[in-house]
Amino acid sequence: MKYNENFLRLSENYLFSEVKRRVEGYKNPPRKILSLGVGDVRLPLSKASIEKMQKGVEDMARAQTFRGYPPAFGYPILQESLKSYYKRFSAFLDEEEFFISDGAKREIVDLLDLFPAGSVAMIPDPTYPVYKDANLLRGNRILYKKGTLANGFLPMPSGEEVDFIYLCNPGNPTGATYTREQLKVWVDYAISQNAVLFYDNAYERFLDEKSTHSIYEIEGAKDCAIEIGSFSKMAGFTGIRLGWTIVPKRMEMLHVLWKRRQAMGQNGVSYISQMAGVGALSKNGLREMEERIAYYTGNRRTIANCMQKLGWWHLQGGAYVWAKCLNGSSSWEFFDALLEKAQIVCTPGVGFGESGEGYIRLSALGEKREVEEACKRLEATAW
Ligand code: MLT
Repeated sequence: MKYNENFLRLSENYLFSEVKRRVEGYKNPPRKILSLGVGDVRLPLSKASIEKMQKGVEDMARAQTFRGYPPAFGYPILQESLKSYYKRFSAFLDEEEFFISDGAKREIVDLLDLFPAGSVAMIPDPTYPVYKDANLLRGNRILYKKGTLANGFLPMPSGEEVDFIYLCNPGNPTGATYTREQLKVWVDYAISQNAVLFYDNAYERFLDEKSTHSIYEIEGAKDCAIEIGSFSKMAGFTGIRLGWTIVPKRMEMLHVLWKRRQAMGQNGVSYISQMAGVGALSKNGLREMEERIAYYTGNRRTIANCMQKLGWWHLQGGAYVWAKCLNGSSSWEFFDALLEKAQIVCTPGVGFGESGEGYIRLSALGEKREVEEACKRLEATAW
């Protein structure tokens, strides 16, 4: 039988399944294994989300308020909530520019339906592996922009010819964050190339007030950028599945085609999940969100302070700490050492791209007590 052989070239599955394989293969650990690996959240949903979700369930239980298929692009009530949320950053968008999704990951893959196979993608390295895999799957050509110590893991364009560009800000896995001026350079570059800028904003809530919270704060972005957002990290929805994609009307044909693509290839997102999203963006929901983010950024600082104390090179931002492996180890060697000496799970940096070799990523999205315990172990271990 024929099949898409490009599947055999993908890396994302390899990274997290290999982590799992090594952890499961570690028999009789002397104490509890602490996971600072995959970026999954620990805190339960906010009260505001739960209340709205319950309202959604009640609506579905009554004949008068029952709903069948949701609108393909999202319920207006959630699109309006997102529109108001974006106004806080002076990013002014129309409701119909928000396409509600079941999370960022699938959108990153599906958006490539808009482009012909063989397109040229520019992808930072290291970065979220799904950008690379989605492009490998389509048979696209990839130009990697290397993140290094010298550029602070914030590579910049230098005139290459491309069809689309990926940015994750603050970055996964490094946490490195572009300034407004640097983002303007990327937007101008995309426009000069007649290219699309895919802006992955999944970690936006972790930014401080002065940072750029949406690419649409940057002049010209509505002409070239598609922004992908997610409730996963900001509201703890990794198990609910809810996100959004913004395709501005100013992008004309791409806006029209994305509507067609979504109307053709999916039937919207569950009403109950969307109600939970409305709750998360309500006044009380946003207040609870602040507490949630403070908890995780507290974890991040705890890890970073511990590394500082140990004189261990690291970067922190978003939901992660990015650290250099000790003793010149490779990413996987250090993964094994961390597991065996301290019973801590990290994510090997090389899994995010070749330039991540020699680094590891620690997630701050875990339980505070476990993060503190992990830091005690790091300090007590003879490296
Ligand atoms: C990660 O560990 O990089 C993330 O949790 C993956 C994701 O968001 O899909």
